[in-house]
Amino acid sequence: MATNILINGEAHVSTREPMTPLLDVLREELFLTGAKSVCREGICGACIVHLDGQPVVSCLVPVGTLEGREVRTVESLAAEGEPSPLQQVMEEHDVVQCGMCFPGILMTLTSFFRERPDAGRDEVKAALVGNICRCTGYERIVDAAIALAKRS
Ligand code: FES
Ligand code: FES
Repeated sequence: MATNILINGEAHVSTREPMTPLLDVLREELFLTGAKSVCREGICGACIVHLDGQPVVSCLVPVGTLEGREVRTVESLAAEGEPSPLQQVMEEHDVVQCGMCFPGILMTLTSFFRERPDAGRDEVKAALVGNICRCTGYERIVDAAIALAKRS
């Protein structure tokens, strides 16, 4: 079965079996490896992408449900090589995260700030509840996020 999906603004036709996770389509068909395959149970948040603008755990989204829908991955955040404001503020605050957890964190916070650009510290923390950093490096992430909120 062919499934037509818009991925980072480009049309893509996947011919994978309908229950194939979106995560595998992204990584194996398009080599978009920003979304990570970690728990594959919807728990860790490492695979978060945006589906029609909303964050989803791509390990639990069957490709067969995506006909005509729009997916954006962490690779789409930097426009023409320029980091997004969120990416910039993370760099300014020396947020040093690994490549396993951070792409999902960026995708969660990107959609969160669209809805709540002036969010407070507790709201940012609550937004990150589905993103697990095993090193517990949350404080700098929240500091940076709050700095971004204060600029709004
Ligand atoms: S790999 Fe999808 S939530 Fe962990
Ligand atoms: S820095 Fe990525 S899991 Fe902790």
